[in-house]
Amino acid sequence: MSRSRLRVAVLGAGNWAYSAHIPGWQRDPRAEVVAICDVEKEKAEEFAAHFNVPVATDDWQAIVGRDDIDVIDIVTPSHTHFELAWAALEAGKHVLCEKPVAYDFRETRRAAELARSKGLKTKLGFTFRYSPGVQYARSLIDDGFIGTPFIFNGYEQNSQWLSPQTPLRQINPDADPNVIQTSSLEGYGAPVIDISHWWVGADYARVVGTMRNFVPERMVRGMSGLQRMNIDDGDIYLAEYTNGVLGSIQTSFVTIGNYPGIEARLYGSEGAIICRLVEEFGVAETIKLATPDGVEFKEMEIPQHFYPVGGHPRESWRSLFYANLVKDFIDEILEGGERNQGSFDDGAWVQEAINAVERSVHERRWVDLPLEP
Ligand SMILES: NC(=O)c1ccc[n+]([C@@H]2O[C@H](COP(=O)([O-])OP(=O)(O)OC[C@H]3O[C@@H](n4cnc5c(N)ncnc54)[C@H](O)[C@@H]3O)[C@@H](O)[C@H]2O)c1
Repeated sequence: MSRSRLRVAVLGAGNWAYSAHIPGWQRDPRAEVVAICDVEKEKAEEFAAHFNVPVATDDWQAIVGRDDIDVIDIVTPSHTHFELAWAALEAGKHVLCEKPVAYDFRETRRAAELARSKGLKTKLGFTFRYSPGVQYARSLIDDGFIGTPFIFNGYEQNSQWLSPQTPLRQINPDADPNVIQTSSLEGYGAPVIDISHWWVGADYARVVGTMRNFVPERMVRGMSGLQRMNIDDGDIYLAEYTNGVLGSIQTSFVTIGNYPGIEARLYGSEGAIICRLVEEFGVAETIKLATPDGVEFKEMEIPQHFYPVGGHPRESWRSLFYANLVKDFIDEILEGGERNQGSFDDGAWVQEAINAVERSVHERRWVDLPLEP
């Protein structure tokens, strides 16, 4: 990389860019945000003024085509991700993209292959993989703390949409109202499925799942009055991994509890880890460990080197975890080697798992993976 600092353009001047992405880039002196683009130009201008970014525009094609930009950061609504990510990779940029890159895992895999063919790095917005606690847990697993892994349990649940009055985005206006549409599993399951894959270190061999629509009518953004929405607002599935580990995942956005609502548990022959990413009483996460001769779970202090510069357990998880994600992406780009964690390949694997669970729910049976040999 010939430039002294990575030059980054952010697409999408919305809530998540404001609270996580841009603060993450601006926290690391090795990168600078040089452009901000939103199809609503005044939003881009407002952000540029607030974050002191020189260029504000509503023309994403022009931004992606500029040769003085190294990284495109996509924080736009989900249905736009694939088009923007593909164009950015074709233009030779490293890409950070919010999840999912595409609804069909084959599209995400195609984008991962395009990146690889051009020697570019990709990263998904798998925020929670980068929490200091989840990173610490993975280092313990690498050091053999778990021994042989037996069982993984993952939860991602909170009560963000328990009230039908809280407007939800319309997911698919053309969907058959008699067929339950995947919602929580995709929006909330993806991060904990990613953690399960990373901690267990093996793919799924097969899955079987179930979904429910608990709150049948709700407000929808841009529409007035309650609407019938047959969406999965709670789901559970079982998984068998190729290395013999058993797993379960449970996600919901109508189960009472605070953000982000993740809990990941791994039990093995030598030890067990429970990592809880639920912001409670000002603390973003806790990690507890137990061993065969110390079966009472003890809370551990997360070593400081798992925190970003200036980070601490009472910082908001939004900026804390994202600062680690962005730092890691900058490390990977500047190192230039093979390392690329939480990449589009990981995104494609998670999306394939979700698609397999969807198929299992609709066909009421176990589904083998990979979906396409
Ligand atoms: N990883 C996480 O933990 C996490 C958390 C929150 C949101 N997200 C994801 O981040 C993304 C953005 O969410 P948000 O809450 O900020 O949404 P938002 O609606 O507040 O902001 C999105 C912005 O993108 C703009 N936009 C739309 N199409 C565009 C295009 N082609 N080029 C440039 N700008 C465009 C919109 O005008 C809007 O201002 C979503 O995909 C969401 O799922 C991820």
